[in-house]
Amino acid sequence: MAEGILLEPVAREMLLPEASRVLRLSAALPQIRAVLAGETDAVALQATIACLLWEALPQTNWCGFYRRVGESQLAVGPYQGTMGCLRIDFARGVCGAAARTRTVQRVPDVHAFPGHISCDARSRSELVIPVVNQGELRAVLDLDSPHLDAFSAREAEILHAFVDEILGPPGVVF
Ligand code: SME
Repeated sequence: MAEGILLEPVAREMLLPEASRVLRLSAALPQIRAVLAGETDAVALQATIACLLWEALPQTNWCGFYRRVGESQLAVGPYQGTMGCLRIDFARGVCGAAARTRTVQRVPDVHAFPGHISCDARSRSELVIPVVNQGELRAVLDLDSPHLDAFSAREAEILHAFVDEILGPPGVVF
């Protein structure tokens, strides 16, 4: 399926109503699952997830992964969007909080989050999902939007389950 996935064309950075976003994500995920079937390399999986979620989530200006390197540091991984910070310590920002606590961080207004790292000054809201495999924090999926409150609790729940399903199994090679 080198042609990618089939979704209604939507202008980049448009914030659709929440119900439309959930429908679009629900239409995209089975197609992304089919594209990834049989792949076990974590970078191949992360790169393709970043590419296809970028299409599925038009409200984003950054969509991709930070990988755990060392005890308490993240380094940028496969992504789409404006240039991201190269390294993030676990002690810093929304990504650091997700990595440190291994919990989903849904931040409707990044300016209200103490220690938020501003890689792109236009970012207004953020969703970060921890990637845990065999009891280890391996990466985080980071989604940023130039809109306030661009990620709902339902989207967070759907994406968390998807990340666990694809990157959680012991057969994935990090
Ligand atoms: N805003 C993030 C940093 C990563 S980038 O925006 C791509 C944070 O506070 O963790």
